[in-house]
Amino acid sequence: MCPPTYFDVAYRINDWMDPGTPVDHELAGRQWQSLVDAFRGLGHRVHLIDPVAGLPDMVFVTDSGTVVDGVALGARYRSEHRAPEADHVLRWFEANGLRRAVRPRYINEGGGDFLVVGEMIFAGTGFRTDERAHAEAEWAFGKRVVTLRLVDPHYYHLNTAMGVLDDRTVAYLPSAFDERSVTVLRSLFPDAVIATEADTRWLALNLVSDGHNVVMAAQATALAAQLRARGYNPVPVDMSEFLKSGGGIRCCTLELRGWRPPGSQP
Ligand code: ARG
Repeated sequence: MCPPTYFDVAYRINDWMDPGTPVDHELAGRQWQSLVDAFRGLGHRVHLIDPVAGLPDMVFVTDSGTVVDGVALGARYRSEHRAPEADHVLRWFEANGLRRAVRPRYINEGGGDFLVVGEMIFAGTGFRTDERAHAEAEWAFGKRVVTLRLVDPHYYHLNTAMGVLDDRTVAYLPSAFDERSVTVLRSLFPDAVIATEADTRWLALNLVSDGHNVVMAAQATALAAQLRARGYNPVPVDMSEFLKSGGGIRCCTLELRGWRPPGSQP
């Protein structure tokens, strides 16, 4: 995770952003810290990367890479505003012993558009990540990558339109996808949780689940009820300041799957 020290809405690269919108920095800091505390409370280890002045979106660190089985695929941003973030995170990967830090050739916005569900990887395209990067991910991770096309500019990253609940279950907003993608999702996940816009306007699908505890937007009460009915434990966190930039819980969390910190016990 990356502290929101320099977080701001300084430019407009998605429909949520209105440059000049005042950010309550003190509140943003508290909200972000409450997310860290929620993860630690659930027993996760949280590692931090230093924030960089002039990179107001670096708090949304998930977009800067994808880590699967201890292998890191770096990101390559569509917007020049965010481009330098990818290098900082790639250097962190290299310095912290990630197995292979692949520098991508095509645009991919990391965990913004790549979601791991069990042995499969779902990859978004349409707004940010280039479809050709999906093949790069397949090559880097040796896993099947399924392309999903986003069509609603409010849901510009896959992780705003789909959330992974466990290795076999996802939640998604059908209207965010083209028809073919909805058909794919329906056939692969007949029991998926279907979200509604009342919740997704709080970026409710931008969640982090360990298979049981689902850290998710506090305002998304209908989705929380659906999850509870299926036996999950919703853990509410309020990230309202970050919505001003179109980001939420998942955006602030780069999951280091299959990685062990250098020097730690096997
Ligand atoms: N302002 C950032 C951008 O538009 C927000 C990114 C949020 N990350 C995400 N995965 N949705 O790039």
